[in-house]
Amino acid sequence: MMSSRYRALCRYARKVTLSPSDIEEQDIEDMRDANFSDREIVDANGIIAYYNYANRVASGLGVGVAQDSRMGRVASRYSIDAGRYRDLWGPLLRPLSLRLFDFLPLAQAGRVLDLGSGVGLLLEDLDRAATLSATVAVDCSVGMLELVPRGHQRAAMDAHKLGVAAESFDVAVLAFMLFHSADAGSCLREVRRVLKPGGSVGVVTWGKDLIATVDEIVADELDVHGALRVSALGSYNIHDTPDKLAELLGAAGFTAVRSWAEGCDYWSDLHGFADARMSVGQFRIRLGTLTGQPRSLCIDAIHRRLSEAGARRPAICSDIVLGVGASPASRGLNRRPAQSSPHLTAPIG
Ligand SMILES: C[S@@+](CC[C@H](N)C(=O)[O-])C[C@H]1O[C@@H](n2cnc3c(N)ncnc32)[C@H](O)[C@@H]1O
Repeated sequence: MMSSRYRALCRYARKVTLSPSDIEEQDIEDMRDANFSDREIVDANGIIAYYNYANRVASGLGVGVAQDSRMGRVASRYSIDAGRYRDLWGPLLRPLSLRLFDFLPLAQAGRVLDLGSGVGLLLEDLDRAATLSATVAVDCSVGMLELVPRGHQRAAMDAHKLGVAAESFDVAVLAFMLFHSADAGSCLREVRRVLKPGGSVGVVTWGKDLIATVDEIVADELDVHGALRVSALGSYNIHDTPDKLAELLGAAGFTAVRSWAEGCDYWSDLHGFADARMSVGQFRIRLGTLTGQPRSLCIDAIHRRLSEAGARRPAICSDIVLGVGASPASRGLNRRPAQSSPHLTAPIG
């Protein structure tokens, strides 16, 4: 839960950033009341103003496109949530991702890319399925990569600008990561670039239904109860049906595209699922901006509405959408060298 001191600082930072001309003596008094010394207020102001300056210079010159800033936010939020992700969400998603494996030529693969690998929960499975292979975990979140079990190769990179030579991998797996991309088409084209001719890509992502229902209710009630807004880091609706995913894969130049939806009932109760959603990511942050009565009222309202939604539609499951495609066997693909990704680090494991 956010402390009152931290909340006061956030309020002040928000006002200095969004409406600096409205700052008045009372705002400074509010900071003093929250136990900030005058020296700390001056420091806070300097830091906030500096970031505003830097952001305006970058924005004014057209630097820092949305895709990059989305990736930065994804990376830092996952780094903060990495432990909870490994213990709670990862084990739930793993069996869903494994459904993709039968549709990929893993047994003959030499090198496999687990893109958006998170904490690497698929790596053992990939190693078992692909006996010949060297599997590389790539993720933009250093905090997630730090939890990848020892002995696996890993590297911090942005999926849109992989610091990897063209035609390096036989198979690429993108499990529950594409919805974070601000430009899924460019991410898939980059995957095609690093796949060998004839190499395969496999994608698994959320379909419509449960996620959308729960997220709508939670977001709605957080708004109603005055939680601060933070940007969402996912756009499920760009590939939440087999047709949409097939179109994206085809547009990125993959051939022999197949896509399909499967049901999954990986969570048996709507309320527990919503609590889990609120334990990580944007909902955890937003809920953290509420305390006391507004917080309890918000949580009560969410559960009330979930009960109604559950009664209307008792099935507690979601579709997942899976898709596979092949990199053309011969291609006039741009064979540019590996991009110097600003997020590339030397493999850390
Ligand atoms: C929901 S987690 C899935 C992790 C893993 N694939 C799994 O199934 O357990 C999404 C992961 O994608 C990563 N990710 C999102 N956007 C990325 C990008 N542009 N480049 C690299 N990794 C990205 C996140 O950091 C996060 O670890």
